[in-house]
Amino acid sequence: MSKLGVVFGGSRGIGCAVAQLLAQRGHRVVVVSRNLEAAQTKANSLPGGDHVGISCDVSNEQDVQRAFETITKTCGPVGYLVNSAGINRDALLMRSKSEDMVSVLHTNLLGSMFTCRAALRSMLSKGGAIVNIGSVVGVKGNAGQCVYSASKAGLEGFTRSLARELASRNITVNLVAPGLIRTDMTAGLKEDVEGRRIPLGRFGKPEEVAQAVLFLLETPYVTGQVLLVDGGLQLVM
Ligand SMILES: NC(=O)c1ccc[n+]([C@@H]2O[C@H](COP(=O)([O-])OP(=O)(O)OC[C@H]3O[C@@H](n4cnc5c(N)ncnc54)[C@H](OP(=O)(O)O)[C@@H]3O)[C@@H](O)[C@H]2O)c1
Repeated sequence: MSKLGVVFGGSRGIGCAVAQLLAQRGHRVVVVSRNLEAAQTKANSLPGGDHVGISCDVSNEQDVQRAFETITKTCGPVGYLVNSAGINRDALLMRSKSEDMVSVLHTNLLGSMFTCRAALRSMLSKGGAIVNIGSVVGVKGNAGQCVYSASKAGLEGFTRSLARELASRNITVNLVAPGLIRTDMTAGLKEDVEGRRIPLGRFGKPEEVAQAVLFLLETPYVTGQVLLVDGGLQLVM
């Protein structure tokens, strides 16, 4: 059955691949990013009709509230929520700027809390599914990524706790933890160097993460799980 899927960070990278796959499966998609033009361009390019692109900064509570008011008023209740909006400001802790720490935590962690809370109102009556995008670094830790890794580890605890809170309402909550995926976020990394330490020998594709996200969205009896999609990277970290 066709559902309304809201994809934060849907204009680029992993979220963009999730939006594409949801649309291919016949779902109506709302693509969300700060850049309105990018969100609308992506929504208009998706297969099927009636997709929508909107602008919202997930780190801003009022902005998220407004976005969900618009979505439910114009598109109806939310069935699927995917939180793929994220940033990194990698640096050793002693060199990290306070404003960067706040931005990373507000976008990656608090932002997903805002979107989940806002989406719940429209999910409570009919049930739904939420997938947050964490990171292998949140599970394993990594030098130079203390703040980013804390934001993703926080998301893991948040996901498991929310899964317990919402199970009785027929809402599943899971986390996909990617390894190194070829997107704008990893554009500065050399795959021929970094890829060598990945057991499967290469970076992942956004589409490969999207498959895992779709599986969790569409599988009603799985909740509170962390699914690593990392080519085996966690085995050697
Ligand atoms: N790529 C990897 O190797 C990798 C690995 C592990 C985890 N992840 C995680 O996967 C998620 C997606 O990463 P990606 O590689 O696809 O990144 P990306 O290509 O840089 O795309 C990020 C997306 O998030 C949106 N975004 C960023 N800040 C936002 C904000 N404050 N409010 C709303 N939207 C915002 C961006 O659009 P605007 O800039 O227009 O807002 C864009 O659509 C992130 O959470 C990232 O931490 C990525």
